[in-house]
Amino acid sequence: MAKPVLLVTRRLPPAVEARAARDFDARLNADDTPRAPVEIVRLAEGADAVLCCPADRLDAAAIAALPPSVRVIATFSVGFDHIDVAAARARGIAICNTPDVLSVATAECTMLLMLACARRAGEGERLVRAGRWTGWTPTQLLGTQLSGRRLGIFGMGRIGRELARMARGFDMQVHYRGTARLPPELEQGAVFHASDDAFLPVCDVLSLNAPGGDATRKWLNAQRIAQLPSGAVVVNASRGSLVDDEALIAALRSGHVAFAGLDVYDGEPRVHPGYLALESVVLLPHLGSATAETRDAMGFLALDGVAAVLAGQTPKNLVA
Ligand code: DGY
Repeated sequence: MAKPVLLVTRRLPPAVEARAARDFDARLNADDTPRAPVEIVRLAEGADAVLCCPADRLDAAAIAALPPSVRVIATFSVGFDHIDVAAARARGIAICNTPDVLSVATAECTMLLMLACARRAGEGERLVRAGRWTGWTPTQLLGTQLSGRRLGIFGMGRIGRELARMARGFDMQVHYRGTARLPPELEQGAVFHASDDAFLPVCDVLSLNAPGGDATRKWLNAQRIAQLPSGAVVVNASRGSLVDDEALIAALRSGHVAFAGLDVYDGEPRVHPGYLALESVVLLPHLGSATAETRDAMGFLALDGVAAVLAGQTPKNLVA
C-alpha cells in the first residue's frame, strides 16, 4: 500500500528524518532551504500532511491555497502563532504541535538567560574574546545574585512551571501572573497575582513565558515596564512579539531595566538594532528547545500527531 505523502519544510534531526522516511513518502528538505509560504503551497501538491516550523508563516491566504489533499499540519514547535488555526479549522485541516517534551529545555534556556544577565556573562565573554581582559579586580563586572530575588513568571504554563521548579533550587521567590490561579500541586508555593498592578512591582526578574499571538502582542509595553522595580531584569524565551522593543530599549538605556536576556525577537531573525548597541543585553538565536534529545522528541511527537490524524484518531498533541 502506498505510504501517505508528508511534506517536511526544513531539515530535521537525522533520527526524525529516518522515521519520517520509514513511515511516510517523505518530501524532505536536504539543504534546509527556507521556504516561502507560496513554495510550501506548491511543494504540498498531492501531500496528505505538512510538517512545518515556527519560521513558516502559514496565514489564512496560505492555508486557503493549500491543496485539498492536505489533512493535517504538524508544527515542530509548541508555539503555533505562525499558523492561522481558525483558517485551518474552517478547511478541516487538523493542527498538531509539540507540547511537554520541550518544557525542560526551554526552562533551562530561560535560567541561562537569567544567570547570564545577573552575572554579566555576555559582557565578560566579549571582554575575554576581545583580548581586553587585564586580570581580576575587586570591582570588575559586578553582577547580582539570583538567590533571594523575586522571580515573576508571566504565563505559568508547562514551561513557566518548569522554570519555577528550577528557580526554587536557586532560592528565588516565585510569583506568577496568569488568567486563573493554579491548583496547589501545580502552584508549588508560587504566589498568584490576579492583576498586572499587583504582579509587576514584585518582579526583580520578569520572565515572559506566555504564548505569542494577538492576546499578548506587545504586552511588555512602556506602561508595564514602568511598574517594574528599578534595576529589574527582563528575560524572554517565549515569543518576541510579547515585547514592545522600543519601550524595552528605552528602559535599558535609562537603567530602569538593568539587564535583558532575549532568545526570541519580533520579526526574527531580524533583531532590533537598539539591542545590539547595549552591553546590558544578552542575545541568543532562539535556542530555547535546542538540545539534541529535545529536538528528537519534538520530531517524534509531531510525526505521531500526523500518523494519528491520518489514521482517523485524535492525537494527544492536537491543537485544533
Ligand atoms: C517552540 O516550540 O515554540 C519554540 O519556540 C521552538 O523552540
